[in-house]
Amino acid sequence: MPRGKLYIKTFGCQMNSYDSDKMADVLARSHQLDRTHNPDEADVLLLNTCSVREKAQEKVFSELGRLRPLKDRNPGLLIGVGGCVASQEGDAIADRAPYVDLVFGPQTVHRLPEMVDQARAKRRTVVDISFPEIEKFDNLPEPRAEGPTAFVSVMEGCSKYCTFCVVPYTRGEEISRPLDDVLTEVAQLAEQGVREITFLGQNVNAYRGAMADGATADLALLIHYTAEMPGIQRIRFTTSHPAEFTDDLIAAYAEVPKLAGYLHLPVQAGSDRILAMMKRGHTAAEYLDKVRRLREARPDIALSTDIIVGFPTESDSDFAATMNVIHEAGFDHAFSFNYSPRPGTPAANLADTVPADEKSKRLQILQNRVRQQGMAYAEALVGTTQQVLVERASVKSPNQMAGRAGNNRWVNFDGDAALIGRMVDVVITEALPNSLRGRMVSHSVAA
Ligand code: SAH
Ligand code: F3S
Repeated sequence: MPRGKLYIKTFGCQMNSYDSDKMADVLARSHQLDRTHNPDEADVLLLNTCSVREKAQEKVFSELGRLRPLKDRNPGLLIGVGGCVASQEGDAIADRAPYVDLVFGPQTVHRLPEMVDQARAKRRTVVDISFPEIEKFDNLPEPRAEGPTAFVSVMEGCSKYCTFCVVPYTRGEEISRPLDDVLTEVAQLAEQGVREITFLGQNVNAYRGAMADGATADLALLIHYTAEMPGIQRIRFTTSHPAEFTDDLIAAYAEVPKLAGYLHLPVQAGSDRILAMMKRGHTAAEYLDKVRRLREARPDIALSTDIIVGFPTESDSDFAATMNVIHEAGFDHAFSFNYSPRPGTPAANLADTVPADEKSKRLQILQNRVRQQGMAYAEALVGTTQQVLVERASVKSPNQMAGRAGNNRWVNFDGDAALIGRMVDVVITEALPNSLRGRMVSHSVAA
């Protein structure tokens, strides 16, 4: 049988990118489908959706409307909707778009092969958005490395229930993979040339992995073990929750040089009143205290964050408190969003009091400030030497290589493709808004 084509469009977070790669691996094995970037030639077409922010559902339905004509041309085409919108809407997707063949949640990726067979046999929408917990990870093929960096999902879901957030409802409660499973995946990736691992979880520092001896490993321990694995040169993790950012994890920044000097630590707001309404479980001062101790452990750490502007009842002084935290924490990057009520969340019952234009005004002010801080941070890097893991040729020229420094900034420098996968020392010569330029001064021997 000739091989078919699979097209996946991914929306949203890194967990979704990870899941999309797993969908491709699973269907390559079961149905000989090769991934394509062209939806017109697909035999199976999947949307891996996100519902974390506004109008996500609507975007999915309009995308589906656009894709529908492909079915007239190719009646054998299967269309599937996965991810968080699928999880939230379930059967409602089939009601509204009956030409959708599969609806699957973030936890049922491994059941795709069966669902594809059923959809082909039945000619009606097959829906599976259950939460079979860790089963997903036990049924995935070996990871396939693409280049020197890789994601490894260590936990799924979130049990924090921040009042604005839909994730606990779409991805379920926190569930961690056993430590040995995670370490085996890391080893398999390292054997294929991966040098940098990013541990993923919606709330990754809530990781509690069962160990063979019956004890439980936390993220700090996982980092310590991973640093000892042959081939692994750098470790990252995302996304963390400040309330569970333990002393051991802070200490890891002092103790484990392979832990990258970068942390994404969402703060969401700077006003204690708003933080309490969001049910974040910490104050602004407690957040800043963790930042202070992180900087003690790793003086050159780069920090980024997530911020929501215009949460219900947010006043000018609440917003000023957010601006203060941005300054005090010294973020060099932030993902910032206007608040939008998400159906089914507690905050959706509150009146959305901040007018849209006021939200946008605040967002603009905030983004300008963060941009200035980011630029100042980048300029201060000029003249320093950064360790860069070379990932690929730069977009502009094959004689230029691109890689990320420990602080997560992209660095471009003259070099050849033989350097890909190596950790090199680069002196930073120029700071640009989204990247750095530099000159290579030395490189390690091939690992
Ligand atoms: N811990 C998660 C956070 C998921 S949501 C992670 O792994 O990324 C990502 C970000 O979207 C949140 O940190 C928050 O800043 C933003 N967000 C979530 N719900 C939102 C809402 N209702 N309105 C606006 N922004 C929201
Ligand atoms: Fe969402 Fe809060 Fe969890 S932002 S993913 S409920 S930590």
